[in-house]
Formats: sequence, C-alpha cells, structure tokens
Amino acid sequence: MSHLAAAPAPSVRVRAPGKINLTLRVGPVADDGYHPLVTVFQAVALHEEITATEVPEGAGISLTVEGPQADRVPLDASNLAWQAVEAIARHVGLDPSVALHIAKGVPVAGGMAGGSADAAATLLACDALWGTALPREELAGLAATLGSDVPFALLGHTAVGTGRGHLLTPAMTRGEFHWAFATRDDGLSTPAVYRRFDELTGPTAPSVDDADDNGLMQALRAGDPTALGEALQNDLEAAALDLRPELARTLQIARDGGALGVMVSGSGPTVAALARSRQHALALAATWTAEDAADAVWCTTAPAPGARVL
Ligand code: C5P
Repeated sequence: MSHLAAAPAPSVRVRAPGKINLTLRVGPVADDGYHPLVTVFQAVALHEEITATEVPEGAGISLTVEGPQADRVPLDASNLAWQAVEAIARHVGLDPSVALHIAKGVPVAGGMAGGSADAAATLLACDALWGTALPREELAGLAATLGSDVPFALLGHTAVGTGRGHLLTPAMTRGEFHWAFATRDDGLSTPAVYRRFDELTGPTAPSVDDADDNGLMQALRAGDPTALGEALQNDLEAAALDLRPELARTLQIARDGGALGVMVSGSGPTVAALARSRQHALALAATWTAEDAADAVWCTTAPAPGARVL
C-alpha cells in the first residue's frame, strides 16, 4: 500500500530588525496627541523572526511567542503582530486563518521597536503567504496605520524619519558600528514617556523644523564612530531619566568605560552605548553586568537590513 505524507501547511518566515534612534528631536505635542519628530533611525542586527502558517479556514488568528522575555508579550489582539494580520487581511479583503509564531531577539518594551518589527514582519509574511504581492508603498502605508516605528522596520538600514516618525528618507552610511545595550526587565511605556516630556518642557519645546543633523549625517557617511558618538542626541532622555533616575548610573558607567557616545534608546529604558569595536562593546556590557547596572546586556552591530522573507 502506498503512503503519501500530507504536504506541510504553507508557511513563510520573515526576519525584521530592532532599531535605535541616533537622534530623536521632539517638538511640542500637536492637536492629534502626537509629537512632530525629526529622527535618524538605524536598524540593529538584533532581530525578530516571525513564522506565519496557513491553518484551516475559519480557524482565525493564533499567536505563540518564544524567547527569553516571551512571558512579557501579549498573545491576543492587543499584540501589534495580531493587528497587522487584521490590517492586511482587511486591506486585501480576506478572512484570515493564520498561526503566527514570534521568536524574539529584540529587547521587550525597551524603546527598540521589537513590537513594531513584529508588525512589519507579519505584514510581509501574510503578503507572501497569501500571494497578494502588495507594492512596498502599500505595505508602508499599512505599516504607518499600526504604529509610528513600523514603516522603518520594513525599510531598515538608516533613515531620517519625520512626521510621527513614519515618513522616511533613506540615509547613506559607510561601514559598521558596534553597540552595547543595557536593558531593564521593567519596561517604560512610550505614551508615559511622551507625557512626562510634555510635563517637563510644556509648550516650550522648540520646533523641530530647524533640526540640524548635518554633523551626524557626515559621521555616518564617513563611517566615523567618534564623530557619530559626539552627535548622538535624544530629546526624550530627560523624561526617561525623570521616570527612571537609576538609568543615570548606567549611562555614567558606559561613559567611564570610554564609550564614544551614550544615550537612552528611544523612549527607554534601554541604554545604548557606541563602542570602538566589538571587543569594546563586550567590555562595556561586562562592566554593566559586574556593576549590576542592567538586567540584561546585548552587543550588536548596525546598520542592518529591513524586514525580509527568509
Ligand atoms: O505610533 P505609536 O502607536 O507607536 O505611538 C505610541 C504612543 O507614543 C502614542 O499614542 C503617543 O502617545 C506617543 N507618540 C507621540 N508622538 C510620536 C510617536 C508616538 O506622542 N511621534
């Protein structure tokens, strides 16, 4: 008797990067509750990996997560990846039946856009799984409806973000930069950090219209880590430090360790330190650990490519 194995369910795997903001300039809050930004995003080689698998019609959406901080990720419709399935399904007029699996490689709730990477990867995975072949601009449009950082996770590399951070212009860079990150188990909520920014700066935040990132762009084009370190800037840092005063020590330890630049990443609480080399990044991370100034440490390089099917 011949025996035919059932064909495996169609499945697509996509990888998307986390990010840092090399500069993050934040203007006074607008009527829609968002803050106008000028930011330089850079994707880092810490990745989320999403697998989207077709399941029998009518089964709906399901979600599983693996990774060291998986227990801190919601598994329902409040997860941005779940919302990404719904958004693209609506857009193409499909009733989705898909099992999503996320392997997390980006710190959770750390201001490095891991959830946004999940959403970007999910858009791409569903598009490939369903054969809808949406143009990149349409995927970017859907991405912007999900969150301000989602379009950048699709694009990757280095880009200037304006508007809410969702309008992107790719930027030239040379070479590879080495980073060390100190993360905390207790994340910071992005809206809470923006609220504290409002309380601290009130309506006096300068407009971002004349933000000048020439020094930073030159450092990126030259592949000059020393100049890049000097040009790092994050307008949300004071608000994150106000909410988490203990981060000041984490910043200082990296400065004392000779980091070329140190800052809070995005809305925090992750602290990012630019290192001279991979060995220097490892040494900075080891010092944070030895001084008990982080719950976890990570070393990686940047830039890295955007979301792509594996
Ligand atoms: O766009 P996203 O959903 O990621 O934003 C989360 C929250 O962060 C917003 O609800 C808002 O409070 C704040 N935010 C902001 N200005 C931005 C981006 C985000 O105030 N440009």
